[in-house]
Amino acid sequence: MAKIISEYRIAKEIFELGKGIILTDEAQEMKKFTQHGDTSVFEHAVSVAKYSLIYATVIEKYFGKKIDRQSLVRGALLHDYFLYDWHEKHKGHGLHGFTHPGTAADNAERDFDLNDLEKDIIRKHMFPLTPIPPKHIESAIVCIADKWCALCETFKIDISSYIIYRINLRFDLIRGNIRIGHRESHALK
Ligand SMILES: [Fe+2]
Ligand SMILES: [Fe+2]
Repeated sequence: MAKIISEYRIAKEIFELGKGIILTDEAQEMKKFTQHGDTSVFEHAVSVAKYSLIYATVIEKYFGKKIDRQSLVRGALLHDYFLYDWHEKHKGHGLHGFTHPGTAADNAERDFDLNDLEKDIIRKHMFPLTPIPPKHIESAIVCIADKWCALCETFKIDISSYIIYRINLRFDLIRGNIRIGHRESHALK
């Protein structure tokens, strides 16, 4: 099957639709915490945004259903915005699997201006572990993309390193963390 959407286009779309989140210090905090294996929560969130966009593209192309791609990306980027190390079970995170969607949603609603769809995406992403099912197709997409990414990360299967590299490069260029050279300038296009 031909590639439905290029990695380059996905990286560009994630950054364009998600830069209101990606460029904040708050969202960058997710780099400090590990999600699965060697993957940080931020990298995991970018990976989930990537697969959410791939699934959305398939649904739009073959089923004619319109997807709110901006809310999809923003919800995916913030779906695990719980901001603690969930591996530290002794610090009261023993029920992390059940409780973190609510914690992430509360944190995200505190730090960002979210619409109802974005809130639903974050709160329902652990279904069926949490019993209330997603209300919107975008929430179901993120819920499925999250499980696929978690599986690959746990088994150390590289599925998103190029996209993560592009997102971080654009972040560093805009923040002035690296000087723009001939090759890097291409990343801003
Ligand atoms: Fe999660
Ligand atoms: Fe997740």
